[in-house]
Amino acid sequence: MVLEKINVSYGPVKVLHDLSLTVNEGEIVALIGANGAGKTTTLRSIMGVLRASSGSIVFKGQKIYGRRPVDIIRAGISMVPEGRRVFGSMSIEDNLEVGGAPSGMKRAQIKETMERVFCMYPILRERRNQMAGTLSGGEQQMLAIGRALMAHPKLLLLDEPSMGLAPVMVERTFESLKELNKSGTTMLLVEQNAQMALEISDRGYALQNGRVVYSGKASDLLGDESIREAYFGIKKEAVN
Ligand SMILES: Nc1ncnc2c1ncn2[C@@H]1O[C@H](COP(=O)(O)OP(=O)(O)O)[C@@H](O)[C@H]1O
Ligand SMILES: [Mg+2]
Repeated sequence: MVLEKINVSYGPVKVLHDLSLTVNEGEIVALIGANGAGKTTTLRSIMGVLRASSGSIVFKGQKIYGRRPVDIIRAGISMVPEGRRVFGSMSIEDNLEVGGAPSGMKRAQIKETMERVFCMYPILRERRNQMAGTLSGGEQQMLAIGRALMAHPKLLLLDEPSMGLAPVMVERTFESLKELNKSGTTMLLVEQNAQMALEISDRGYALQNGRVVYSGKASDLLGDESIREAYFGIKKEAVN
């Protein structure tokens, strides 16, 4: 996927300025930056939830900029939203079904896809009939990832998957992302936890006030003194 010089505003306030970034097939790319830098806005623009006023977004040779979110999901991009946003009063199974809905799969395919999610996160199978609101934060993150996987994405956008999770759950979540990437899912990983994100990424971009201020190989960013100073060691409080 290639974003080229996209500009995005909320009303009169411009938030993304000529933002360009590339995610190559098979990569994990980290998008790091402080609170308010424009990370979520970038992901929502890719999903077609927000409209860029100029620039282009191309995925697998197709222009996706300006298309409806459902068409973008069908083109092969899914998002795991910030704060997980699982449907708390719906069962785990029903949450997963919602994720499969945009792709227009038949019943049997939905079941088959759900089986794959259950193999990856067995705890979700055990609790399949339980309401999602009863899950812990880490389990809800698994469900949110599972729900996004229901649409068979080639590219997965993750918005702060570590936010508010206990360290052991952060580890587990990142482990499962690595596994998922090995099995062929490309990822754009938004994180305030810059160090952890870069550790599992191939390349990274740092955003500041809606502009890319650094980009490069993850290993180079990890070793860069100014990156370490600006982005490492940021702790974020739990939101749920
Ligand atoms: N719905 C909105 N309306 C107006 N301004 C917004 C809205 N959402 C985000 N912003 C502003 O846009 C900027 C980027 O926000 P966001 O993309 O959420 O940053 P990040 O995800 O990096 O924390 C911030 O200044 C934020 O206040
Ligand atoms: Mg955000």
